[in-house]
Amino acid sequence: MHTVVDHPLLRHRLAILRDKETPPKLFRELVHEITRFLAFEALRDIPTEKVVVHTPMGDTTGEKVAAHVVVSPILRAGMGMLDPMLEILPYATAGVIGMKRNEETAEPIPYYLNVPPARPDSRVVLVDPMLATGGSGCDAIAALKEKGYRNITFLCIVSCPEGIARVEREHPDVPVFTAVIDERLNDRHYIVPGLGDAGDRLFGTL
Ligand code: PRP
Ligand code: URA
Repeated sequence: MHTVVDHPLLRHRLAILRDKETPPKLFRELVHEITRFLAFEALRDIPTEKVVVHTPMGDTTGEKVAAHVVVSPILRAGMGMLDPMLEILPYATAGVIGMKRNEETAEPIPYYLNVPPARPDSRVVLVDPMLATGGSGCDAIAALKEKGYRNITFLCIVSCPEGIARVEREHPDVPVFTAVIDERLNDRHYIVPGLGDAGDRLFGTL
């Protein structure tokens, strides 16, 4: 299942994000802001528990998040989405996954995995700005499942039909939230129109 999170303020930011003249600092700020929009939609169903709150005017009831949330960025570009997630989920932990696509084949090569132990109530939010062939995302989800995680949500900013279809085929239990589904992949496995290489644009390594 996938959801396109659509909002005029999000579309405005996407247009600047795609622009090849947008420098890394602004690019990072936009990734940060867009991630918050995605997170609000993706975490709508996060469990809460009732708590008593003592206001200066008396007592009332409120709600507090009651889930063990692990935010899992796929290195490198997913790092740009980690901070905004941890800001809105102050009790969350991070589980880092390193994957690098082979430039020729687009096959993901895993190089790092450091995730906290899974608990029965754990929920993982996997974050990566780009869902292209779907190889990195699917392998990251498989690695998380191997570590015992069952409740996984995938947040990406720019996706394409090929990547969405692959996640839905290999991991039908993982909902995908994306800001946009672009037209297609080109013959180098890049998303068109896309925004280029997200890691390079985030970290200025073009
Ligand atoms: C990019 C991106 C995703 C992956 C998406 O990372 O951040 O992880 O490609 O492509 P896929 O869906 O075809 O797997 P890349 O491997 O270029 O590494 P980087 O973030 O270090 O630049
Ligand atoms: N990774 C990127 O950073 N961009 C693409 O278009 C595809 C994969």
